[in-house]
Amino acid sequence: MNIPAKTSHFDVIVIGAGAAGMMCAAQAGQRGRKVLILDHAAKLAEKIRISGGGRCNFTNLDVTVAHYLSRNPQFCRSALARFTPAHFLDMMARYAIPWHEREHGQLFCDDSAQDIIDMLRSECENGQVSWAMPCKLESVSAGSAAGERFILDTSHGRFSCESLVIATGGLSIPKIGASPLGYRIAEQFGLPVVAPKPALVPLTLAPEELEIYKELAGMAFDAVAECGAGRFRENLLFTHRGLSGPVILQASSYWQARDYGGDDGGSQVTVNLFPAEDVRQWLIERARSKTLLGNLLTERLPKRFAHAWCDQRDWNKPTNQFNAKELDAIADALSGWTITPNGTLGYAKAEVTLGGVDTRELSSKTMEARKVAGLYFVGEVMDVTGHLGGYNFQWAWASGHAAGQAV
Ligand code: FDA
Repeated sequence: MNIPAKTSHFDVIVIGAGAAGMMCAAQAGQRGRKVLILDHAAKLAEKIRISGGGRCNFTNLDVTVAHYLSRNPQFCRSALARFTPAHFLDMMARYAIPWHEREHGQLFCDDSAQDIIDMLRSECENGQVSWAMPCKLESVSAGSAAGERFILDTSHGRFSCESLVIATGGLSIPKIGASPLGYRIAEQFGLPVVAPKPALVPLTLAPEELEIYKELAGMAFDAVAECGAGRFRENLLFTHRGLSGPVILQASSYWQARDYGGDDGGSQVTVNLFPAEDVRQWLIERARSKTLLGNLLTERLPKRFAHAWCDQRDWNKPTNQFNAKELDAIADALSGWTITPNGTLGYAKAEVTLGGVDTRELSSKTMEARKVAGLYFVGEVMDVTGHLGGYNFQWAWASGHAAGQAV
């Protein structure tokens, strides 16, 4: 990466060369702004590289505010409307990057996430963006001259700028460079931070619960999971520590949001084990069967799970020996299996971070802090968290683009 030679003043400095930071730097550079992007990592955009199993689920065909959690739920609307999935696809088309659609409107690269990194790097080059990488930021302070609002002391020397963009992401996966720097800078300039928490993360179960399901690690099946205001239908996966799979990752964001203060989150996750049909009807039709309930359930559920689930409730009888009231209770339990997780696997396994810089202090048009002229936040560092499915990258592109047009 080329380190700026003698010049120490820039119109714009972007801290964090990830998805949002590169998008912002490229847009600002292409508008003719003199831009420096700096990052403490040695390797560029590791999170993009490992995303989507190496193929980067870079956006989704159906992006609405309902796909995001925030204490300020309408905040993301404006930026998402001004930079849509179609805009990102136009950019990819210019670089002839092949992609495909998977279920739920998720778009992935055909070849490699590296295509996206190379594209963003080229976009930065088109805007003559300067790079400082790896570069350690030692301090940020308020400057005194009009064009020099911020002074940065770094391992590459002192820089000044008129606009400072914080694009340092969330706390997920510390071993590839996640850090709380963005939150610290926000607090330094008087901006509140909504307590960060791991989200899109596997949930853990208490030991007594794990004991029941320990033989099932690796097993997956289709289910609906509900938690607070979140409701999803995808695969549920048993792990050695608890539950995972896309449906649990989605629900985990709402489980983590339970003390947001609103009614978004819940403390329990309710799982419908019969997502495709009316379980009551299904049971009534089989009520005269002499088959053990556990065996009957294997028509719809994996065998080992069906038996463990029935054993836990002592429902080991032939189905025709249950009375109507009991069948009702079974139907309720199958459509509303209630799980009370005791924790998550934390930032080491979380895909994103819930919470972040409080967007009520930012402009939804430009991402600039209302009370600190020239200070901008983009991407995951903000309190805007997308569902699984390409929504977090779409937020990085859209917020990076909005700030890139304004700085
Ligand atoms: P991002 O994390 O991309 O970049 C932040 C940058 O800031 C990094 O380069 C970091 O090194 C730098 N930085 C941090 N602290 C610093 C400091 N102190 N000094 C200097 N630099 C610093 N989303 C999605 O939509 N589709 C997907 O397929 C996936 N898949 C996925 C897989 C995995 C394993 C993870 C962990 C995450 C995903 N995500 C995802 C989420 C997605 O990667 C994430 O939301 C975006 O990368 C956020 O973009 P940002 O630019 O905000 O942060």
